[in-house]
Amino acid sequence: MKKLVKFLIFIFVGLLFFIFLFLVFVSSQRSSAKIEAVGRGTLNGALTLDQNWTPSLRDKMNHISFGSRLLPYSWFLHLELPESQSLFREDQHLEKLGFIPAQASLHNPDALAIGLAIDQQQEGQADEPWLGLTCAACHSAELRYQGQRIYIDGAPAKIDFQAFENTLLRSLSALLEDEEKFQRFVKGTAVSDANNLRLAVQARETFLTARASMNKTAVAYGHGRLDAFGQIFNAVSVEALGIEGNARSPNAPVDFPVLWDASHLDVVQWNGSASNVEPGPLGQNVTTALAVYGSIELQNQSGLGYDSSVRLATLGEIQSNYYLLTSPQWPQDILGEINPEKAARGEAIYRANCLSCHTLVDNSDAYRKIKTTLVPQSQVGTDPLMASNFVEAESQTGILEGRKMLAGLAGEKFSETARSFDIVVHAASGVMAKKPVTTLLAVLKEWQDQYPTASGPLAKNYKARPLNGLWASAPYLHNGSVPTLFHLLSSPQDRPQVFYIGNLDFDPRYFGLQLSELRAQSVSEFDTRLPGNSNTGHEFGVHLSDADKWDLIEYIKTL
Ligand code: HEC
Ligand code: HEC
Repeated sequence: MKKLVKFLIFIFVGLLFFIFLFLVFVSSQRSSAKIEAVGRGTLNGALTLDQNWTPSLRDKMNHISFGSRLLPYSWFLHLELPESQSLFREDQHLEKLGFIPAQASLHNPDALAIGLAIDQQQEGQADEPWLGLTCAACHSAELRYQGQRIYIDGAPAKIDFQAFENTLLRSLSALLEDEEKFQRFVKGTAVSDANNLRLAVQARETFLTARASMNKTAVAYGHGRLDAFGQIFNAVSVEALGIEGNARSPNAPVDFPVLWDASHLDVVQWNGSASNVEPGPLGQNVTTALAVYGSIELQNQSGLGYDSSVRLATLGEIQSNYYLLTSPQWPQDILGEINPEKAARGEAIYRANCLSCHTLVDNSDAYRKIKTTLVPQSQVGTDPLMASNFVEAESQTGILEGRKMLAGLAGEKFSETARSFDIVVHAASGVMAKKPVTTLLAVLKEWQDQYPTASGPLAKNYKARPLNGLWASAPYLHNGSVPTLFHLLSSPQDRPQVFYIGNLDFDPRYFGLQLSELRAQSVSEFDTRLPGNSNTGHEFGVHLSDADKWDLIEYIKTL
């Protein structure tokens, strides 16, 4: 009898577990039915388009914390710029760095710029709230046309990430060098023990100095770009493993990719290196979180995985919200009407020249599955650096030597050196394995099975994604080296050799960034002759007549 009761309990618990699994999946995949068409709106004076996010969801997504921890929150509120008493957080300053100012709201009580988030203390931790970055810092943008500001969810941001980090570091250093500055900081943060505060600032400054030195690059990223892979490799193989010799300059910055439809693509990242099969996106987001000031304790394996500041449940929620996001439609009332005859001619040109790689998307299908086309770099001919860095990066494994490649689960053991990519996958799976209830080991295993770890060579590809919403995602190509679509349809020698980026003005005719000859203070020079910046390749459509090119552009406006 006792046995039977035990058996029934066992079955019951098992059933509950499966129902839970099922619900997790259903809620992450199918939550779109809940949201009705939202129409247009405004955000801090900018127009928002209908992209299937309500204003309250947008507010949340613009300030939600996934565990990025840059500075204690109270420090960030009171940190002054190095050369003045103005605060680092002030709109005027952050706007120059490409951030979009915001008003106070439910999720943003102190009116910080979009993409800045408060990381409240986690369960079981006694420490204070921290300031971190969230996805929207790099994946949302504003465009301007004739005085009208348009805010676009999921569009490539224009932030200058390196300048942001460098100024922050210099501001911390200034605190330690200038006693009056420090006293104002003590007063602002209302910390009772000034000596302790000084030590803590010193420690953080040392940490950020080391990070800046491992991530040094000869060519500045400028506005709108970041070498995410290069920095992730360093964050894990240098910082978390504690091996300085693993540092490799993250010298292949890429444009921030658009996030509408990203959750529906078969593979993601510019080189298509990451499978999107559930819960692939979670693994992706964990690696992002680690790069963007998430912390991980690789030195101490605890149980199956690693302790980390990354918030898995929040990453799951973020993922489902991006699943809902649709591409922005060309706003004809603002950017000009689309000529239907020209667009119809353009459609035929698109079908003949572009469709084989750039598939079309049906935005009204909430569960759309989108196929991308992976093209070898040697064939598309665009700048090779990002694709080859990814394939070539190797690191010393240090304390990981002898551990299984896929943390907590399976795989071969690490030897003395390994591909940096495998080490990152190990770290991300270790973060997930640490919290098996939230991630569910079985699902994690499925994700790990998707990875080409050890089994196959990494490929040197770039991915062709669908072109819907393209107008809101200039500049073009993975390295952002071509400012407008018209220039992309021109021979490489006719594309601008040097242009400025960071300027938010849109050019509806050439379809892309407004090219301004004037070098304003808050823009960066993009010199296509520098390593990683080449604007060659992708010569599809360059042979078309000008008339055909304009028709093609007219059609692409409709996507
Ligand atoms: C500091 C800037 C930054 C932050 C913050 C950031 N990302 Fe990204 N993200 C990037 C860059 C750069 C890439 C391109 C990486 C590559 O392919 O080389 C990228 C790529 C992606 C991709 C692949 C898209 C595609 O079509 O290939 C997804 C999905 C993504 N990020 C989601 C997120 C999510 C979700 C968050 C928040 C949890 C986030 N990102 C936070 C910079 C950022
Ligand atoms: C053989 C496949 C192929 C064909 C055909 C092709 N493309 Fe592409 N396209 C790619 C690849 C691969 C990339 C990514 C290259 C990179 O980022 O370095 C790309 C990138 C782009 C981008 C940049 C997207 C972004 O987010 O920055 C645009 C715009 C584009 N293609 C337009 C077109 C148009 C218009 C045509 C037709 C005239 C066309 N492509 C034909 C493969 C193709």
